[in-house]
Amino acid sequence: MTPVGIDALAVYTPGYTLSLEDLAIARDVPPEKIRIGLGAHEMAVAPPWEDTVTLGASAVARLFAQGAVRPDEIGMLLVGTETAVDHARPVGIFLHELLGLPPACRTVELKHACYGATAGVMLATDWVRGAGARGRKALVVATDIARYDVGSSAEFTQGAGAAAVVVSTAPRLVDIEPATGVYARGVYDFWRPLDRREALVDGKFSLDCYLEALDGALADYRVAGGSDADLLARCAACLYHTPFPKMAAKAHARLVAHEAARLGRDATADDTYGRLVVPWLGAARKVGNTYTASLWFCLAQLLERAAGGLAGRDLALFSYGSGCCAEFFTGRVVAGAATLAAGIGLDAQLAARRRLTVAEYEAFARAPASQSPTDDGRAGAVRFGGVRDGRRVYERRAVSS
Ligand code: CAA
Repeated sequence: MTPVGIDALAVYTPGYTLSLEDLAIARDVPPEKIRIGLGAHEMAVAPPWEDTVTLGASAVARLFAQGAVRPDEIGMLLVGTETAVDHARPVGIFLHELLGLPPACRTVELKHACYGATAGVMLATDWVRGAGARGRKALVVATDIARYDVGSSAEFTQGAGAAAVVVSTAPRLVDIEPATGVYARGVYDFWRPLDRREALVDGKFSLDCYLEALDGALADYRVAGGSDADLLARCAACLYHTPFPKMAAKAHARLVAHEAARLGRDATADDTYGRLVVPWLGAARKVGNTYTASLWFCLAQLLERAAGGLAGRDLALFSYGSGCCAEFFTGRVVAGAATLAAGIGLDAQLAARRRLTVAEYEAFARAPASQSPTDDGRAGAVRFGGVRDGRRVYERRAVSS
């Protein structure tokens, strides 16, 4: 079968961060509950002049600025988001116009909570192999702003960010293995009615649903013919959808138990969490939940920091979307990936953010959705300029990386 996988990757997160210790103090919650109980330290905050279009456009602008992929090479644009800006007009067509993608480019938005972009990557792997691709690449964009009600317990698990993932038949970053495990089941763990900006969630139940979906996806991975080798020995890293870092710890414990049961060994002595999971959680600790982009932020961190040493090694990846649909798959880091991965620039973005006060964060969170916001210069490649004549207006900025 033709190799297929991730040819290029870029991420973008807004230039503002809120310390979750500051938020905990303001909400009269013990800071250690958030720092230790959830494993979260900060969250990215989207200002009123950023939305899922500007986040996605900035991620794609950063991708093209790397110089490895050109807009005219893209024949399909799939956007996974659960915080879209319009019920009919897809985020992708805004990106198509703003980024100068070719007219012969299939452009579609995909929704299944945090799973939408992974669905896009998987659909793209089939498309690039087929005759319809005519040798072109697929661009998958994951873009989201995680918002819950101010003052709710879920408020600590917000965040914002976007990832741009190019899928091709000559991947320069990660080969995706053909066997993948999928699980779907109708559950009401997390949802956002059409008239609400903030999501609703049955928090504790959502954790159970996530872990049950991991069980189901791992079982299907076996049915699909996934390698029989011990995942914990074979893989150099396990990357999970990370709404908050402690969730990745719970997921990894579940994967360890799964492998222990399958291979007939004791799970209690397993010490792989610190080695296979923790090193790639740093961005999630500082950005928070980015919904569809969450898994890809973990991958971006891994590739930027360690692609050189992991060449030829396998990675385990798990994507979960509430509602629910999930997928478990593996990939292999391509030799030479480090050169391209050095341009991802995630650490530099995190270091350059401005720390908000809780009052500033609350002002951003309560800003009306359609005002004409004035920015302070801290925006990405594109800013939201407000709504005129019922239409959303976007303005390109000179900054592209
Ligand atoms: N010191 C240290 N730890 C403490 C503590 C303290 N003083 N107080 C509590 N803790 C620990 C608790 O023991 C608990 O840890 P364990 O789960 O390991 O036992 C942890 O802190 C959280 O405590 P609670 O469960 O009491 O916290 P909560 O009621 O505030 O709810 C939450 C936490 C359910 C995650 C909530 O923030 C929420 O609803 N978030 C949104 C939903 C979500 O992210 N779900 C994840 C799965 S669904 C998904 O992945 C899709 C998606 O992106 C939304």
